[in-house]
Amino acid sequence: MPKRYLVTAALPYSNNRLHVGHIAGAYLPADTYVRYLRARGHEVRFICGSDDNGVAIEISALQEKTTPEKICDHFHDSQVRDFAGLRIEFDTYGGTHHPDFVKLHEQFSQNFFRRIHEKGYFTKRRTKQLFDRQADRFLPDRFVRGTCHHCGFERATGDQCEACGQMIEPLLLKNPISVISGQPAEVRETTHWYLRLSDFQKPLQEWLEKKQGQWRPHVLNFALGQIKQGLPERSMTRDIAWGIPVPLDDPDAHGKVLYVWFDAPIGYISFTAAWCAAHEGDWRGYEKWWADPDTAIVHFIGEDNTVFHALIWPAMLMADGQYQLPHVVVANNFMNHRVAGETQKISKSSTAPDAPVWVEEFLKQGLDADRLRYYLTRAAPESARTAFDPEEFIARNDNELANTLGNFVNRALSFAVRFFDGKVPDTAAQTDADRQHLVRAGAALEKVGTCLEEHKFRAGLDELMGFAGLCNEYINSRAPWTSRKNDLPDCAAALATCIHSIHYLAVMAWPFMPGTARRVLQMLNVPEAPIRWEPPPALQTGAALGQPQILFAKLEPGTIG
Ligand code: 2FM
Ligand code: ZN
Repeated sequence: MPKRYLVTAALPYSNNRLHVGHIAGAYLPADTYVRYLRARGHEVRFICGSDDNGVAIEISALQEKTTPEKICDHFHDSQVRDFAGLRIEFDTYGGTHHPDFVKLHEQFSQNFFRRIHEKGYFTKRRTKQLFDRQADRFLPDRFVRGTCHHCGFERATGDQCEACGQMIEPLLLKNPISVISGQPAEVRETTHWYLRLSDFQKPLQEWLEKKQGQWRPHVLNFALGQIKQGLPERSMTRDIAWGIPVPLDDPDAHGKVLYVWFDAPIGYISFTAAWCAAHEGDWRGYEKWWADPDTAIVHFIGEDNTVFHALIWPAMLMADGQYQLPHVVVANNFMNHRVAGETQKISKSSTAPDAPVWVEEFLKQGLDADRLRYYLTRAAPESARTAFDPEEFIARNDNELANTLGNFVNRALSFAVRFFDGKVPDTAAQTDADRQHLVRAGAALEKVGTCLEEHKFRAGLDELMGFAGLCNEYINSRAPWTSRKNDLPDCAAALATCIHSIHYLAVMAWPFMPGTARRVLQMLNVPEAPIRWEPPPALQTGAALGQPQILFAKLEPGTIG
């Protein structure tokens, strides 16, 4: 039965370039999943955009001596190019402060805040906050650094500890230092609106417990562990200039903006509404996606976003009460970088600006994006951190893409060109071995589908490559190069089976490597049409094939450094 899915990938901050860790973490698995769902005939919207508000952007603007708008524009455009280069195709790529989206986004965010306020889930509190006397400003979130009060990590920022992933209470940071002036921060009083997460502990716990067995254990364990410790109230307003004004008729709200983590996930909704406005002429079409239980909402995120998507965002949704809760939150761990045998974190400060782990740099090398998609799924950090290793990238390209997948496709199709005039051979002499091979093809299609359904992308790719391996064994055992000399009908049946298997491989490869799938279909001379996740029919005997090409060339050592 076709279903409706609203799939989102975490909105990247528009103050940095994308790297392979971002791609492997959220965007590639989300795109793979969406391609699969569409091939199954489901109705899907795939929503993402840049996260333009908040402290991170304001700090970048201060550091670069420019405006937040300019920072956002620059990185939003760079993100759009990177995603296009990797064939990651959203239905809409919005931006929470982008001129085409900001109006609707502000309305949605402010209305959301007002409704929760009216329902009484905020506590307005006069509170102490870290302040930079030299810069004459408060220091929320990443404006302050200090030692984590949970794990002792010395460079924790005031919002969340990078080392242990836990939420930070800035006043508990040890030795807090202003990121702006480098001076020790002092404490001053201000007023904020706090969401009482504790009001939602019980419903959150009940909801999460029902997800056991469906969500990845690390997501559930983390979220349930936080609930066990007790959820603190979280301030949903900030004393900074860049963001969405707090929509309250209260002098204390003057000059304050919404916390970026309040408005960012609402971007998923407002961008859906913007899509509906642009494509259906009415932004209210978003309700079909967000307020109708027949739509499954699926969030793809990196591990550092878990607390927000598995606890705070669902608590906001519960408080508001108008929209559905996520059906599933799919979180990956971080991907590091292996350089000269050492594993390093990928970051602006520690990674060379021309390293191929930056998507822009990878794309400059002119390698087919599917090679990266393949490697990043092979090395996907689905249950533990992994590392991008250039040597492993080359080895997998050569041994798996070139030797296993590409070689089979090329051997079979070149043979058809040489000895069958580039036409699909006759299947009249099909043997049990041929029929069994096609049964294995059908089983592989099923298995890959089940893996994708369950968000097991690595396992899905293993199944696909396992079948490509079987295809090589099959062609070797049927040896059409021998039967060509003494039993041409048998040779024809074997080769027709190979061609049929190649068609299966193209369907299975589609979610993972869409460019490759299309190239294979061209080589089969199958007309351009949306891919369907179903056993492809055998091509007509005598139908003309396309021109075979090398699917993946081997790479020189050191091709990517
Ligand atoms: O971690 C980040 O890059 C955040 N900008 C993710 C936001 S996801 C969301 F909720 F929009
Ligand atoms: Zn910590």
